[in-house]
Amino acid sequence: MKHLSTVLERSEFADASPARDPIRIIAVASGKGGVGKTNVVANLGVALAQQGKRVFVFDADLGLGNMDILLGLVPRYSLHDVLKGHKTIDDIVISGPAGIRILPAASGVAALTTLTIEQQLQLHGEIEKLDSHADMLLIDTSTGISPNTCSFATAAQEIVVVVSPEPTSIADAYAMIKVLSNDYGEKRVRLLVNMARTALDAHAVYRKLSLVTQKFLNVSVDYLGGILYDDLLPAAVHRQRAVVEMYPRAVSSQEFTRLATQISQWPRPDHPKGSVQFFWQRLFEQPVAAAGVPACP
Ligand SMILES: Nc1ncnc2c1ncn2[C@@H]1O[C@H](COP(=O)(O)OP(=O)(O)OP(=O)(O)O)[C@@H](O)[C@H]1O
Ligand SMILES: [Mg+2]
Repeated sequence: MKHLSTVLERSEFADASPARDPIRIIAVASGKGGVGKTNVVANLGVALAQQGKRVFVFDADLGLGNMDILLGLVPRYSLHDVLKGHKTIDDIVISGPAGIRILPAASGVAALTTLTIEQQLQLHGEIEKLDSHADMLLIDTSTGISPNTCSFATAAQEIVVVVSPEPTSIADAYAMIKVLSNDYGEKRVRLLVNMARTALDAHAVYRKLSLVTQKFLNVSVDYLGGILYDDLLPAAVHRQRAVVEMYPRAVSSQEFTRLATQISQWPRPDHPKGSVQFFWQRLFEQPVAAAGVPACP
């Protein structure tokens, strides 16, 4: 298969050199479903925007994306329409709380990583516009070890794995980190423990997981933090609002705000994972795209 980078080198994109701080691209993933990925992305996004960051959220949970429902938004179009050539990225982006901008899930697209080279280029050209319009791109991936999720995770600069304290969630997080390490060469992920009863419980989950990933996978897990179980979060979900916006003093909101500050201070990524251009290049050059078969077991 012809690689996207080969085409790009010979194309108009070859001269596109971002001369400013690169955008930060963070993929949020989990082994087990229902551990809070979508809420984490939405609330971190809003908290970052409240701190003055220009935030784009990409709902990459193909088929089951529900970021829009969570935030009470009604998208009319999705990436699918961009791929069909009917719409541009500007047409499909919707505005959310605190000015975050959301790229709606591309329902109807089986896997972005299996697009044709023409579709990739078209999407690439559109998405590249984000580079100068955003400080953060947060990606809500679909649950589990699908080729699509692995591709998004490994194409991003940072992978945040969300886990809850349940043993099944911890086991599934380990399985996901194993695949990211063995099949994609990722040797560092960040861990966010959600729905813990106490901060100590959250940290204990991190210790347990990091011990085994270090020992058996040689993967280092950095502790991003712990969000406690908070009744106000589902209460906000019920009203289709972000908890950081609706209940800013809630214990979960305060932690999202603290995490947003922390994330803003992460060291800037170096080339080549430093721009949207390289993100898409990496995304489309995963083994799955090249071989046309799933790379994850
Ligand atoms: N810190 C929390 N405290 C209490 N409830 C929470 C917390 N985080 C998430 N939830 C609840 O857990 C449920 C699942 O959350 P969410 O949809 O964000 O998970 P997900 O990982 O995106 O799920 P999926 O795998 O379906 O994409 C929601 O009902 C949400 O209200
Ligand atoms: Mg979700």
